[in-house]
Amino acid sequence: NKIGVIFDLDGVIVDTAKYHFLAWKNLANHLGFEFTEAHNELLKGVSRVRSLEILLDIGKVELSEEKKQEFLVSKNEEYLKYITKMGPEEILPGAKELLDTLDSLGIHYVLGSASKNAPLILKQVNLFERFSGIVDGNSVSKAKPDPEVFLIGAKKLNLKPEQCIVFEDAIAGVKAANTANMISIGIGDKQTLHKADYNFNDLTEVNSSFIKELIN
Ligand code: G6P
Ligand code: MG
Repeated sequence: NKIGVIFDLDGVIVDTAKYHFLAWKNLANHLGFEFTEAHNELLKGVSRVRSLEILLDIGKVELSEEKKQEFLVSKNEEYLKYITKMGPEEILPGAKELLDTLDSLGIHYVLGSASKNAPLILKQVNLFERFSGIVDGNSVSKAKPDPEVFLIGAKKLNLKPEQCIVFEDAIAGVKAANTANMISIGIGDKQTLHKADYNFNDLTEVNSSFIKELIN
């Protein structure tokens, strides 16, 4: 029984939500409204363009297409300032150990992220070389909860969707995995991610016996 794994990046392997938050908050303040951590939750797993739309809805601000493009660029420039300072110490607890476990079991894994910055982030934390493939925001046309990103991931793994296990921290991502007919594993708040097939608080809780059970 062959399986493969697809990892979301932000919130599963690294915590970049805090950097997205700083950059979006600055933009909101610039536009004259407050942007809270609770608001930031709504942007998890969501594409960059969609994130801006949600943010503008929160502030009840309307902008021309031109202005939107301009702010998408400036937001990302600020975000890049934070992520280019990232290092391996920012890998979330349990992530490297889980990759080691998968390596030792001969299970292949790819990345399935909405972020266009995913390759850069993986390089910053020295994990880029470890993945058999990368599917990121540059290679998909439909954002999560559409299953496209994970279906491309399954192709890269040469596996059928039902042979793939997805690790996700976002509601949109769990939904995408479920729609793709994959095994969904929610990482984070169990209540929030109750649609996942399995739930763990973080990757330290995902041990090799759990992975072995999934193989059988
Ligand atoms: C991930 C994050 C989202 C982010 C998206 C796009 O899914 O969880 O919060 O909006 O990637 O990221 P990008 O780096 O392309 O702006
Ligand atoms: Mg995520």
